[in-house]
This record gives sequence, C-alpha cells and structure tokens, in this order.
Amino acid sequence: MAVLLEVTGLVKRFGGLAAVDGVSFAVAEGSIHAVIGPNGAGKSTLFRLLTGFHTPTAGTIRFAGRDIAGLAPHRIARLGLAQSFQITTIFPKLSVREQVIFALIAQSTASWRMLSGFPRLGGHRDVMAEAEALLAEVGLTEVAERRAETISHGDQRALDVALALATRPRLLLLDEPTAGMSPFETERTVTMIQRLAGARRLTVLFSEHDMDVVFGISERITVIHRGRVIAEGDAASVQADPEVAEVYLGSAA
Ligand SMILES: Nc1ncnc2c1ncn2[C@@H]1O[C@H](COP(=O)(O)OP(=O)(O)O)[C@@H](O)[C@H]1O
Ligand SMILES: [Mg+2]
Repeated sequence: MAVLLEVTGLVKRFGGLAAVDGVSFAVAEGSIHAVIGPNGAGKSTLFRLLTGFHTPTAGTIRFAGRDIAGLAPHRIARLGLAQSFQITTIFPKLSVREQVIFALIAQSTASWRMLSGFPRLGGHRDVMAEAEALLAEVGLTEVAERRAETISHGDQRALDVALALATRPRLLLLDEPTAGMSPFETERTVTMIQRLAGARRLTVLFSEHDMDVVFGISERITVIHRGRVIAEGDAASVQADPEVAEVYLGSAA
C-alpha cells in the first residue's frame, strides 16, 4: 500500500527536554494507524508537529509526497491533513447543525469550489444536504438542534470530528479522541472511527494512552515512550513486546 505520511528522524526540543526524540514511522494510505504511549510520552507534541503548530527542531515530514515540516497550519490543512480540535466551545451558542454548516461554508469558500454557487439556492442546498449527511455519519442527527455547550462530552468530541471532516481531509488526525470518555462513549467513538475510515476510505492516525482501546481497530500501532519509538507492528506483535509491557506496567504502578 502507498505511504501517505512519512516521518523521519523527527525531533522537538523544549529547552533541555526532547519531547519528540528522533521519531520515524510511516502511515499507509487507507489504514487506521495508532500512536500509543503513556501520558507524557510525546504524542500531542508529535501531532502538533504534523499539523504545523510546532516547528520541528530536526527531521522531515512528508505528506502525499511533499515535505510539510515547518509549513503553517492552514497550509498543511489545505493539503488535506486535518486535525480534530476541541473547538466546539468557541461558538457555544450555535446549534450543532449550525456549526457543521459554517464549517462546510468556510471550507467551500476557502477552496473556491462553491464561491459561484453560494449563497444562491443551488449551493445552499448542497451545503444543507452535506451537513445532514455529516451529522448522520458521526451520530449527531438527534442532537442537531441543540446548542453545542449543552450536549454530552462524547457528542462534543463527535462534533469536533465532524468539523474536521468538513475540510474533506485525506488524513484525519485525532489526538486522544477518547480522552475523558466513559467506557460506553469510548466504544462508540472507536466504532465511529472504524466506520468513517471504511466509508470514506480515509486514512486515520490517532493517539491513545489506553492500549486496549486501539487493538481492535488499528492495522498498525507505533508505541512511543519518552519521545522515542520503542515498538511498532500489528496488535499481536505490540501486545507480545516485553518492552511495551514494561513501560505500561511501570506507568500504571
Ligand atoms: N510547549 C511545551 N513546553 C515545554 N514542555 C512541553 C511542551 N509541550 C509538552 N511538553 C513536555 O513534553 C513532554 C511530552 O508531552 P506531550 O506531547 O503532551 O505528551 P502526551 O501527549 O503523550 O501525554 C512532557 O514532558 C511535557 O511536559
Ligand atoms: Mg497528549
């Protein structure tokens, strides 16, 4: 399978601390790939490097054949690499449906695709239909009329994903999408990720600190600890890795 994202020798230093310390891995197009590691391992720093919110100290990031290391976040997003942010509270008074509609309009305008059609009726209808489809895809149809600030934590995270999908990404990045969720919400989120990846032929790279969450759905798992890759492979090989077991037992103690 073709490689969509390739990270080589990536380093990010904060003063004396190398939060990401020479990380290399590749994400195959169309795959679900997990980055796991205990809290403080460097997952969020790695993801911020990929989306342009941090500039690498060293290393390269190739996305769809282009070197994107150090590009501004909006340029990286425009190339098709989207991160779901926890931003549903920026406009807490808007309904869930309105947020999705605004995200779709912003994307359409940015890409000039709909500029001639919107706000004329034809373009308008397209946006409405697309919003309904997106809401259904992430399981928010029933709460679409509600203000974002009043829906459950799990639904707010699903809305984050919908807003990221509105940019029509090739690669969707989810940094700990199940953080703070109940077991029920976690299960729902994992099922949603799997469904989206299948239906949209989307490549998904997500991080997680709980190993059990990733094993069922990830084709490939990269394990990081103290900014370094300590293991990589499918669920079975990562589960059988003694160093991984040690890191997780150690951090749980
Ligand atoms: N902006 C920053 N400045 C200084 N240190 C940071 C910054 N961001 C993260 N760190 C440190 O880098 C390490 C990795 O953090 P992070 O990437 O958030 O890990 P994770 O997401 O795996 O929990 C931690 O020791 C954290 O304190
Ligand atoms: Mg984190």
